[in-house]
Amino acid sequence: MIPVFAARHVEEAVSPERALEAVREAFLAYHRGDWSMPPKVYVPAYPAGDFRAMPVLGAGHAALKWVTSFPGNPEQGLPTVTGLVLLSDASNGMLRAVFDAGAVTALRTGAAAVLAAETLGRADAETAAVVGAGVNGRAAAKTFVARGREVALWDVDEGQARGAALGLGASVAGSREEALAADLVVTMTPGHEVLLPPGSLRAGQHVSLMGADGPGKAEIAVEELVRTHAFCDDWEQASHNGELVHAVEAGALQREQVTELGAVLAREADGRRSDDEITTFDSTGLAIQDLAIALAAMDRVDKVDLPTLDL
Ligand SMILES: NC(=O)c1ccc[n+]([C@@H]2O[C@H](COP(=O)([O-])OP(=O)(O)OC[C@H]3O[C@@H](n4cnc5c(N)ncnc54)[C@H](O)[C@@H]3O)[C@@H](O)[C@H]2O)c1
Repeated sequence: MIPVFAARHVEEAVSPERALEAVREAFLAYHRGDWSMPPKVYVPAYPAGDFRAMPVLGAGHAALKWVTSFPGNPEQGLPTVTGLVLLSDASNGMLRAVFDAGAVTALRTGAAAVLAAETLGRADAETAAVVGAGVNGRAAAKTFVARGREVALWDVDEGQARGAALGLGASVAGSREEALAADLVVTMTPGHEVLLPPGSLRAGQHVSLMGADGPGKAEIAVEELVRTHAFCDDWEQASHNGELVHAVEAGALQREQVTELGAVLAREADGRRSDDEITTFDSTGLAIQDLAIALAAMDRVDKVDLPTLDL
């Protein structure tokens, strides 16, 4: 019998705090070379959206996430991100469990956004804001709240920001400019509009750039990105399909100017070097993060009342 974790089961099994710790360990295991991750495959179905196949091997397991990004879906009452995560035993190939990909994605994306903000932001950072209060923006805000931080939300759709803030005990920022001026900023928009034009960030800020995770998307101008101390989740992925790709293609950013988060967590590379530095983290979303959440959920498989599949 194969346990099936629907979204509510994933949320019951893994708290945002547990997710953050699991994702931290996953970045470290990947940095050490203990976990491996073949490149994510994009299957474009533009202009509607794209499919992504994301395989990973680690901790005696293999996983595959088959997941979408269809930005126009909310207008039809459908989620932007949907699909499944399959978790298998790496010693015999047997399928161990199936998970709702949307819930796994939201938990691990919120975790990575806040982990990067806590790692790279100033130690005395006070204000935090999330721009884009959809499924994954809300997950980031929920993770900030779980970590004991007050957070403000902003969205082009005011009702969306208000609804999310109400549900989380967060506030709504007075304006986009106010949100983008926070000490710790998370951007989680579809990436169709540059939110951070040249000269918009001030000394000491940190921005986790989460929305531009595929071709043609950007949340920050190249000129603004290159004036920051840039970090990413994975150079290969981020320099080909993330926010970094525009700067790399323009010849404005080289590999040695960008540090992977795992290296900072392992204390093998510098994080923030001064209080004045502006730090940015480009996230494209890694399969190692999904495996981390799937394994954390499996730790609680006996505690959650789950349906099963008899294949
Ligand atoms: N880096 C990662 O790991 C990762 C993971 C999941 C999703 N994403 C990406 O994040 C983005 C958001 O995903 P989601 O599932 O939360 O989508 P969603 O559709 O649920 O939410 C997007 C929100 O952004 C708002 N928005 C749109 N344009 C905006 C703008 N210019 N300023 C402020 N708000 C704006 C929308 O009103 C909506 O509320 C997508 O591009 C998705 O591909 C990245």
